[in-house]
Amino acid sequence: MSGSIVGLRGILAVLVFLFAGMVVTPAVQPLAQNATNVEGNSSQQEFWQKVRRGQTGNVSIPDTKAGQLIQSEGEEFRALRNGPVTVYGAQALIASILLLAVFFILRGRVRISHGPAGTRVERFNGIERFGHWLLAVSFIVLGLTGLNVLYGRYVLLPILGPDAFAFITYWGKYLHNHVAFAFMLGVVWVFVCWIKDNFPSRTDIRWFREGGGIIGSKHPPAKKFNAGQKIIFWLVFLAGVSISLTGISLLFPFQFPMFAKTFAFLNMFGFDLQTQLTPMQEMQYAQLWHTIVSVFMIVVIVAHIYIGSIGMEGAFDAMGSGEVDLNWAKEHHALWVEKLDREGTLHTVAEKATGETRAQPAE
Ligand code: HEM
Repeated sequence: MSGSIVGLRGILAVLVFLFAGMVVTPAVQPLAQNATNVEGNSSQQEFWQKVRRGQTGNVSIPDTKAGQLIQSEGEEFRALRNGPVTVYGAQALIASILLLAVFFILRGRVRISHGPAGTRVERFNGIERFGHWLLAVSFIVLGLTGLNVLYGRYVLLPILGPDAFAFITYWGKYLHNHVAFAFMLGVVWVFVCWIKDNFPSRTDIRWFREGGGIIGSKHPPAKKFNAGQKIIFWLVFLAGVSISLTGISLLFPFQFPMFAKTFAFLNMFGFDLQTQLTPMQEMQYAQLWHTIVSVFMIVVIVAHIYIGSIGMEGAFDAMGSGEVDLNWAKEHHALWVEKLDREGTLHTVAEKATGETRAQPAE
């Protein structure tokens, strides 16, 4: 009896061995140097290249990416993301805040040199301000929730503990994924409203030469937007589009690969970038680029928020009530005021309300 069981076990073992050999051999058994297997792999190197590219055999489940047994780029991505990207990003953020603090201590608030005129003029209408605040509030929500994904585990986790941190991060991610669409709308809204006032002009050269009036008390003449604001506008647009596209790529994994195509395009201008990317690599590039551009934009916007609030007397009103003091307008956007005056559209707020004649701009 026991002899026949041993015999049966032996036959089964041989069958299992043969069956497993048939299934596994073509896919994962490394080959001897210069040998050729049924798939035509002629060397160890070629075999391991196939393992890394997910070409080792047929995968019968829907997710064919599972056929990739090793993804070496994953390790490079992890090292980059948790190394230089995280470290340099933090350094840039801290440095920009410190620099602004030092600048504020040394320079103080940029005052209206001639003092407020008391008469106010409309700078941005309701449609413009709605677009700005849609963009601003969504950007701040995305910035804070995004920074939590990058730095939360180092900064918040030790303070809040795992439960509260998990709660914040879970809902933060949820918010991030949804508020992203408000941001995209904000980028388009602001772009449409202000593109006509943001083309480069000759006056921008003088603005740069005079350092934008930030250092010293001179105010180089500017149109509706000065050269510095035009840079902010174009950065917000270009970075906004870039962050949005990579964000969509991350929101819908593997549906919108864009880096192989972008690299192929850049190669036409002398770059030498890899254009054969696996779906996983596409996701990793999207993640890296999304993070790098976002951190860069946060640094830029921190400076923008500074100058639009505590950094400059009278600036916030432009986006708050939409009305600025006439002397502020003349000092920072003299050519814009002159243009309104020439066109006969320089109506102060009081005149608009009473329907009276145009006021003389204050000297
Ligand atoms: C609390 C946050 C913010 C404040 C206090 C603020 C303030 C302002 C002010 C006062 C202006 C008008 C400047 C003028 O009249 O000449 C302005 C313009 C603008 N803002 Fe903001 N802003 C904030 C956040 C943001 C954010 C997050 C973005 C984009 C992501 C943004 C993008 C812009 C753009 C593109 C302009 C037009 C160009 C310029 O003036 O630089 N703002 N902002």
